[in-house]
Amino acid sequence: MRPVRLREFMEKLPAGSVAVIPGGREVRRNGDTDFEFRQDSDFYLLTGLNEPDCVAVVAPSHPVHQYVLFVRPRKREEEIWTGLRTGVEGAVRDFGADAAFDIALLDQLLPHYLGDAETLYYRFGLHDHFDQQLIGTMRRLREMVRSGVYGPGTIVDPSVILHEMRLRKSETEIELMRRAASISAAGHVAAMEACRPGMFEYELEAIVEYTFRRCGATCPAYPSIVGAGFNSTILHYNTNQEKIDDGDLVLIDAGAEYGGFAGDITRTFPANGRFTSAQQAVYEAVLEANEQVIRMIRPGVSFMALHEEAVRTLSSALVDLGLLAGSPAEAIERETYRKFFMHRTGHWLGMDVHDVGRYRTREDWRILEPGMVFTVEPGLYIPAGTESVPAEFFNIGIRIEDDVVVTEDGCEVLTKDVPKDVRSIENLMKGAAGAV
Ligand code: GLY
Ligand code: MN
Ligand code: MN
Repeated sequence: MRPVRLREFMEKLPAGSVAVIPGGREVRRNGDTDFEFRQDSDFYLLTGLNEPDCVAVVAPSHPVHQYVLFVRPRKREEEIWTGLRTGVEGAVRDFGADAAFDIALLDQLLPHYLGDAETLYYRFGLHDHFDQQLIGTMRRLREMVRSGVYGPGTIVDPSVILHEMRLRKSETEIELMRRAASISAAGHVAAMEACRPGMFEYELEAIVEYTFRRCGATCPAYPSIVGAGFNSTILHYNTNQEKIDDGDLVLIDAGAEYGGFAGDITRTFPANGRFTSAQQAVYEAVLEANEQVIRMIRPGVSFMALHEEAVRTLSSALVDLGLLAGSPAEAIERETYRKFFMHRTGHWLGMDVHDVGRYRTREDWRILEPGMVFTVEPGLYIPAGTESVPAEFFNIGIRIEDDVVVTEDGCEVLTKDVPKDVRSIENLMKGAAGAV
């Protein structure tokens, strides 16, 4: 049986077109050791096949082979080392392909599928090795012109179909994302409970990632960020190697991958379980922005309007806190708020942590629809030594990040299981036994 998303993709492909979708390949880490394999998200969405060196050919107008998989063949001497493979027979039997071939035959067989195609759907620039292979196939097709073959005259990026599909999650996909989010939340709760001054950032990283795996996650969806003190002000700090001091804030940005989908949560909390008044004041400004944006989310709202709302809320707070001179309107007009809030308020979330999907259409910024999933992650960052800022605010880096899915009349917060108001965080940390 063909996967649901593949059937949907096939229905959307125009007559006479053929899509070629390569899967991921092994990537060398060092010596003879590879990075852990992660399948290409488009390929995985369409096929459900999680093995390297595969290519899917989708040809809805082909008389018999509308869906063909090229895979690594089964080989006893290789399977002993790296595990059982789906193989050519399994690709037909278990993954719904009309035909399957050894990947080594791709060069020889691809011209057969492309020979009569009007349009080739292929995304250049993602897989260098395969780009070259495909260019070779196109060249050979051109050389066959006197035999009456000419190959596709038009090449289209399949993202115009596929990534629009990925932008709107199905109910099954939302269920996977609920699980990815709740596992991610469990990791953050465990870290808050375990944190004590004197620990190292990597100890919290280990607790977060241990919890992810223990709850059934495949892996972290991206490198976990655990930054204490000054490091909380570095947006993508992920060396996680320093000691956590009494009085530090700890910012953790970590998410689990489950069923091919990512969670993406940030929480910030005091290492000793009690916010200072300066930390609390900045924290509540960021929390207000996070909650204000979440309250606005519903179908029909522009994605950009959410960022603008966060900028308004944070700019007012920065003026109230004495961190910016002038009025909030001036802070927005002159973009002085960017000294403390220098990133966007959110991004699409799905199979990739920064998921695919356009943020603008030709006309304007994207309008929200049910099934779209994205993050809400305002933040304020004040490294020590920031000009014109009192020392009590130094090394306060705060981001509060939730994952939301747009519903018919609002949104569902997928990451609600991890506390975010000052009182709940302090109570959780007070009641916890600390690291074991
Ligand atoms: N974890 C990366 C981000 O929040 O965008
Ligand atoms: Mn994010
Ligand atoms: Mn994040």
